[in-house]
Amino acid sequence: MKITISQASKHKEQTVTIGAWLANKRSSGKIAFLQLRDGTGFMQGVVVKSEVSEETFNLAKNLTQETSMYITGKIVEDTRSAFGYEIQVSEIEVIHEAADYPITPKEHGTEFLMDHRHLWLRSKKQHAVMKIRNEIIRSTYKFFNENDFVKIDPPILTGSSAEGTTELFHTKYFDEEAYLSQSGQLYMEAAAMAFGKVFSFGPTFRAEKSKTRRHLIEFWMIEPEMAFVNHEESLQIQENYVSYIAQSVLDNCKLELDVLERDTSKLELIKAPFPRISYDDAIELLKKKGFDDIEWGEDFGSPHETAIAEHFEKPVFITNYPAEIKAFYMKPDPERSDVVLCADLIAPEGYGEIIGGSQRIDDLELMKERYDQHGLNGPAYKWYMELRQYGSVPHSGFGLGLERTVAWLSGVDHVRETIPFPRLLNRLYP
Ligand code: 4AD
Ligand code: MG
Repeated sequence: MKITISQASKHKEQTVTIGAWLANKRSSGKIAFLQLRDGTGFMQGVVVKSEVSEETFNLAKNLTQETSMYITGKIVEDTRSAFGYEIQVSEIEVIHEAADYPITPKEHGTEFLMDHRHLWLRSKKQHAVMKIRNEIIRSTYKFFNENDFVKIDPPILTGSSAEGTTELFHTKYFDEEAYLSQSGQLYMEAAAMAFGKVFSFGPTFRAEKSKTRRHLIEFWMIEPEMAFVNHEESLQIQENYVSYIAQSVLDNCKLELDVLERDTSKLELIKAPFPRISYDDAIELLKKKGFDDIEWGEDFGSPHETAIAEHFEKPVFITNYPAEIKAFYMKPDPERSDVVLCADLIAPEGYGEIIGGSQRIDDLELMKERYDQHGLNGPAYKWYMELRQYGSVPHSGFGLGLERTVAWLSGVDHVRETIPFPRLLNRLYP
């Protein structure tokens, strides 16, 4: 019977066939250990000289890394491995003998690995990170579906920018000018007025000249938007959502967290409610921590965010930033118009901002004013204004950056390892 490695536990003591690649091997005169992978998992194959034909044993000893094959043998328990099972090989049928494989079990430099990303993805660590990414996506759909959100897909080609005009990728749209979406938010606001609670999940693009551990040119965002929901209510949904995905990763990615040597005690702490600190208090905190030159009105850089996050064990919301440094659509605090009803969620351990969110302006006149201030009065915004003309309601939303969240929960240093084919400043290959 043909099975996958993920099904091994259901076939104890049975003889099965698995299509697999050779990840690594060790052998002596009498026994060969094959590290097999089939995409669903990793498992050891044991080839004992005295139990197979001479031809099979010689074949096993000479297999090259990444050779593809059908392996037949008996599944047995193996208490020494984290996976718990191995296959006692009786037959090997080579499908394709791999040429000299560039990525060996030895250390390689980052640029070399990035140039071989199409192959690097096969390695155990990269596999673990992608499985965690998949779990976050799976549990995201589950969370929002269970909470009555409707999945809505905003367009990727667009005529309107949500997050400022300096970081847009321009493209021709026949005779018109179009951009690749920076955020689906404006469309999600329209969707919330039609469906109440909505969420999107899709790629977004920013022509940012930033070369940091946290920035990708193409990244994926989850963007919920909710009618009749104010800023504080939105924060509660955010903390519940983030706690939910962290718990799902803890529950369903034990092997992967183990491969990545993630300190799971840190992840156990991710439970709602999360602390909140106002921008004003954050400035004071930074001054106490020795950041003497930060002034009220300035945006935080990653050293500031890290310093603030270090003050708390859990992710922390920094709330009510100055209106000046935030997007045009954020609703001013009714008690103090110099700050807006917004929050950034900062992850612990230096992973930075993973969510940006706010209550949106629902008043037509104020929105017009903010448009003019930002020089955004082009025809593409007509439809967005109309949302404030026909039954405008208080509404809030947020965007969670998937790759930063994967980096944080997996404990990997750089977002380039959290997306299958990263688009970075100066990298479009492979
Ligand atoms: O804070 P941002 O820019 O917010 C928005 O785009 C809102 N329109 C979202 C909304 O309210 N619907 O981006 C949201 C999140 C950030 O917190 C960060 O996690 C991630 O997107 N992000 C990036 N991730 C990787 N590379 C980049 N260049 C990113 N820019 C933002
Ligand atoms: Mg932001």
